[in-house]
Amino acid sequence: MDITAGPIKVKTIQKGKCAEATPPKAFSVEEVLKARHFHMSFDSYEATQLVNLRTLARALGVKSILVKDESTRFGLNAFKVLGGTFAIAQLICQKLGLDIAKVNFNYIKSEAKKQIGDVPFVTATDGNHGRGISWAARQLGQKCIVYLPKNTAKRRVEAIRETGGEAIVTELNYDDTVLLAQEKAKEVGGYLIQDTAWEGYTEIPTWIMQGYTTMAAEVVDQMALQGIRKPTHVFLQAGVGGMAAAITGYFVNRYGKDDAPKIIIVEPNEAACLFESAKADDGTCHTVEGNLNTIMVGLACGVPSPIAWDILKDFTDMFVSCDDTIAARGVRVLANPLADDEKIISGESGAVGIGLLSLMMRNEEFDNMRHALELDQDSVVLFFNTEGDTDPVNYGEILWDGKYRLPSNGEME
Ligand SMILES: Cc1ncc(COP(=O)(O)O)c(C=O)c1O
Repeated sequence: MDITAGPIKVKTIQKGKCAEATPPKAFSVEEVLKARHFHMSFDSYEATQLVNLRTLARALGVKSILVKDESTRFGLNAFKVLGGTFAIAQLICQKLGLDIAKVNFNYIKSEAKKQIGDVPFVTATDGNHGRGISWAARQLGQKCIVYLPKNTAKRRVEAIRETGGEAIVTELNYDDTVLLAQEKAKEVGGYLIQDTAWEGYTEIPTWIMQGYTTMAAEVVDQMALQGIRKPTHVFLQAGVGGMAAAITGYFVNRYGKDDAPKIIIVEPNEAACLFESAKADDGTCHTVEGNLNTIMVGLACGVPSPIAWDILKDFTDMFVSCDDTIAARGVRVLANPLADDEKIISGESGAVGIGLLSLMMRNEEFDNMRHALELDQDSVVLFFNTEGDTDPVNYGEILWDGKYRLPSNGEME
């Protein structure tokens, strides 16, 4: 279904969980526990907050709105470090012949140099993943080389340099930057720690995805403390799809396929490769080319991760492609709390889901979509705020100058 209202352009494809599919083993409750225990062994570990926006939920006509706020994860302003650290630790365990369940981060730190010598970590990133890898490399006393796409915001480059990484901005889009990092890793004999997969390169990206599940495992415990059994709907924003597939994979394992929440995958219009794959409906994933221009920089990926697609194609209820105005609205909604709700600093890639819900619950153009998803006063809706203000200049312009503004209701038609 296509929804156009003023500058708002949303496209949706309704799917539903595949009857024959079985929950992916890599994201079983036992596997997820391993990542969680590993992260809990960090000296600076603290679960990020699960924020319950009660007044916003009332205002939008749902039962609960829960936001897992990853802007505070290890002081790095995004969730991505969870994946990189777990993958690097798994790599070292593999070399040592150890089970990750039996080691902690301090042990990995003490063994890293001995086991892998001075081999650099190499990666490509839109910013957040590279910052996580560069932070992990510093902890382990290793060098890190990070390639970024053209026009990367200055602050994102600085953030990588501050954590000790060598940051190189290319003249390429994200997908071509990934190819470049692949070549460079070979050239320097480094370890490529990439958060997307391709044929012959699936082990490290699977570990990275397993690392992301720590945030979902925390959510399950935090919901229990708030007396909430499970979410009915989960909005997951996607770039290559790794984060969304990891969380989906865990939830279908945790709750069982028939009792799992509805999964809504959200992407920017200009880089909606999972949406296009769902649209093609031939079981395989498809790429999107071009500049991938969007303010949702973390989601600006045109090539899906095939291991992510394998999960998302079976367990997604709806794929949604959104324009930038929706992400900007989400940034403003979370930054301007109602009544006693908490303020959440959310970057463009972190906020798009809440922007979409806020429109969907209030505008008749979205009636069909809302009904298709059965979003109503009984819905418990979960979001992952996967980043804070990682580009503070754009964040400020969205809030102060109303950049990417939507028309008011009266102007919608
Ligand atoms: C803030 C943020 N959210 C979501 C994502 C999406 O993750 P994935 O590429 O695994 O789909 C990214 C990816 O970099 C990101 O930086």
